[in-house]
Parts: sequence; structure tokens; C-alpha cells
Amino acid sequence: MASYDVIFIGSGPGGYVGAIRAAQLGLRVACVEGRETLGGTCLNVGCIPSKALLHATHQLHEAQHNFAAMGLKGKAPSVDWKQMLSYKDEVIGQNTKGIEFLFKKNKVDWLKGWASIPAPDQVKVGDEVHEARRIVIATGSESSPLRGVEVDEKVVLTSTGALELGRIPRRMVVIGGGVIGLEMGSVYARLGAEVTVIEYLDRLIPGNDGEVAKAFQRILQKQGLSFVLGAAVQEVATAKGKARVTYALRKDDSTHEIEAEAVLVATGRRPFVDGLGLEALGVKMTERGQIAVDRHYATSVPGIHAIGDCIPGPMLAHKAEDEGMAVAEILADKAGHVNYGVIPGVIYTHPEVASVGETEESLKEAGHAYKVGKFSFMGNRRAKANFAADGFVKILADKQTDRILGAHIIGPMAGDLIHEICVAMEFGAAAEDLARTCHAHPTYSEAVREAALACGDGAIHA
Ligand code: NAI
Repeated sequence: MASYDVIFIGSGPGGYVGAIRAAQLGLRVACVEGRETLGGTCLNVGCIPSKALLHATHQLHEAQHNFAAMGLKGKAPSVDWKQMLSYKDEVIGQNTKGIEFLFKKNKVDWLKGWASIPAPDQVKVGDEVHEARRIVIATGSESSPLRGVEVDEKVVLTSTGALELGRIPRRMVVIGGGVIGLEMGSVYARLGAEVTVIEYLDRLIPGNDGEVAKAFQRILQKQGLSFVLGAAVQEVATAKGKARVTYALRKDDSTHEIEAEAVLVATGRRPFVDGLGLEALGVKMTERGQIAVDRHYATSVPGIHAIGDCIPGPMLAHKAEDEGMAVAEILADKAGHVNYGVIPGVIYTHPEVASVGETEESLKEAGHAYKVGKFSFMGNRRAKANFAADGFVKILADKQTDRILGAHIIGPMAGDLIHEICVAMEFGAAAEDLARTCHAHPTYSEAVREAALACGDGAIHA
């Protein structure tokens, strides 16, 4: 039996980052992981592999649509699907091995196997029981099941199955117009599949700015995706490698059917806490099946903490990472904290969609007086040169004080551009602070500055 200051359960972005930080702060640390490789959902079957496929298929899209106009002649590349999947697996391998290296470098022990918690100071892995002064649960999430739909990961898929399909389907139905549905839907649409997204609400990406959602839908439609909004899927029947999806339109209850070779179920995720023994320990859960924690990530059982997708808040790798660092600091008697008001969200389609802070909808609901500064990428020379002028930057600022309250970007590199606004918000900046900061020309970032200028006396290139 080994004894540790802290054992993290789960090696996803929450657990591995927390474990490394705790070790850097002088604690004796182990991290339990039952998968063959470290990195959790994000590195193995989530963020990273999907980004590899998004990158490869975006290159294909560029070759098919924009190369000739730039004087790059020749046949557009054809797809070697097996090779594209090996490239994706190679990317996963490099990254998961990278964490193994970081664990060794920081002296974090990897306890291989699935953990349970027989007592608040014990973690059982296989037949071995390890003692821990503190335990941090970072076990993440899994795809939520959908009534009437049975996943077989061959025809009816979660995001995991969608990353390793045997072949590119001719027709794909995506259930859920959220982040996973639109990222993976984009991948297969670029690969030539006819993709139809069925969404329960009357809009895509709920929670995001409504104007961005509308623009996003228009752009994706131009890229060939079809949408059925306001529709509830009732059943997915499979036979001979094909699926028949039955859905009802909410406005008139009429039922419709679509056939497809692949159906991706992307209607949200739920906390994964199976096998830990939380009920026997008396760990309090929320109504939504998340582990309830206080501001210090402490559960209702002294000695046991929890972070990441298995506690309330957005299910995002970077939110989990920040909580991992914060809990490590707290356990090392330092002041760890996460600013939940400034957590960016990014959808890695092309163009990307990025947001931070308040939306117009949330400000209206709160009765907060605000102003909007908007700038289209059509006015950005770099974007025009790069065939990337679809989209805009929108900054929301307090009407009286000019303090930035939120920002929403749809456009090239939106996921990177959003961070200058995040930093500004962390420092409590006004839109004028961004507007008065010199931005290099020609860059996409100038569109952010122009949106900030539009909060004041006006943008120059609008
Ligand atoms: P999501 O919550 O983003 O979207 C689910 C969508 O499905 C919503 O639009 C919802 O209205 C719709 N829906 C729910 N039930 C439905 C039904 N019965 N029929 C039709 N539509 C229905 O969930 P998603 O895309 O599955 O992603 C899960 C989690 O993973 C999210 O929290 C997301 O933030 C995270 N994620 C983040 C990524 C990123 O940051 N780029 C990438 C992938 C996932």
C-alpha cells in the first residue's frame, strides 16, 4: 500500500493538470487512469482527434474551393480515409505519450486501472488499496443516451464512434445541433456525406448569441449541411447497415422519416461517476447527477473533492484544467480560484465560433443596459485575401461605464481571437482600452479592435 498527499481519479484535462500542479507545489501525487493511455476523453476520443479530422478536411475544402482562384492548379486531392484515421491516431499517440512524459518529469505516479473509493482516505485500484490524505474525483462525462435510440457505434454513433467509422457514409443524420453535432457534421459534410442535422429547439447552439447562431446556420448551409429545427426524434430503427430516423416537427406534430448510413447522437453529455462507490460514501449529488461541491471543490464528504465535467458548469476541457490547478493550489494551502465569468467557448468548425461572457439575450433578461460594437470580417483585408471574410466580431459593453461584458465572434481563428478579449475582461477593461491598443496590420485581430471602436465613436473600415 502506497500513501499519497493527493490522488486524482481520472487523467483527463482536469485530473492530469491538477496532478502536475499539485506535484509542482510539493505534494506527493498519484493519478488513476483505467484507459490504456492518459488524457481522458479530450485527448483520446474528444477534442484532439476531432480537431485532427477538422484540420485535414478543412485542407481538403480549401483545395477543392479556393486553390484554383489563387493560381494553384491541378487535381484536388482525393481522400484516403484509412490514412486520415492513422494521422488522427498518430496525433492522439503523440499527445497521450506527452502526458506520460510530464507525469514522469513531475514525479506523478500513474496508478493503472479503474478506481473505487472504499473510504474517504482510500483509493482502490485493482486489488491494491492506496492511502490518500485527499482525493480529487475528475472522472469526466459520457454521452447522454436518448430515449428510443440504441447506440451500436457502427450505424448509430456517439462522438467516439464517429471518430473511427469504417467508411465515409453517403448520408449522415446528426441528432443535436450543438457543438459535437456541428463539428463532426462539418467533418463528414466536407468528406462528401449528405449531412442533415435534426435539432429539438428552433435554433442551433443554444446558449450562444442568437445573431451568431443565425449567421452560423447560414454559413453551414452554404457548405452543404441541411437543418431540421424544432424537431423531436422519436425513433431510430436499424437494419442491414442502415438507419431510419423518425422525427416529429414540434409546430404541427407531423412525423417524417430520413434514411442514413450513419446517425450521430449528439444531444449532450452527463457526468460519469460509475463504480466509484459515491452512494455508499454518502457523497451528495445535484438533481442533474453531478457531484455537488462548494467553492473549494469540496464534496459533502470531508477529504473528497471533485472537478471538471462531473461537477456543475460548462463541460469544457479548459474549465476542467483551471479547476484542476485551482484545487491543487487549495490542497497546497494556496488561494486557487476560477473566474467563471470569463470562460471562453469555441466551436472548431470553419469558420470558428467563439464566445465569452454575457450574450445579448442574457443581458436583456437581467435588465442590464448595454451597447453593441460589431464589425464584419468583410472589412478586414487579411480575411478577404484568405477567403475568410464570412462572419463578424461583436463586443457587448456596459452602456454607462463601457466595461466589456461579453464578446461573440464568428470568423477566421475566432478561437484564438477571443483571448485578447478574455484578458481584457480579466483586467476589467473598457471597450475603449481595446480600441486604443495598437493592433498590427494586416491581421484578423484588427477586426476585434474595430468592434471595440464600434462601441465608441465608430469603426473605421465599416
Ligand atoms: P450540446 O449541449 O452542445 O448540444 C446538444 C444539442 O442537442 C442542443 O442543441 C440540444 O437542444 C439538442 N438536443 C437535445 N435533445 C435533443 C433531441 N432529443 N433531439 C434533437 N436535439 C436535441 O451537447 P453536445 O454537442 O453533445 O456536446 C456535449 C458537451 O461536450 C457540451 O457540453 C460541449 O460543450 C462539449 N464539447 C465541447 C467542444 C468544444 O468546446 N469545442 C467540442 C465537443 C464537445
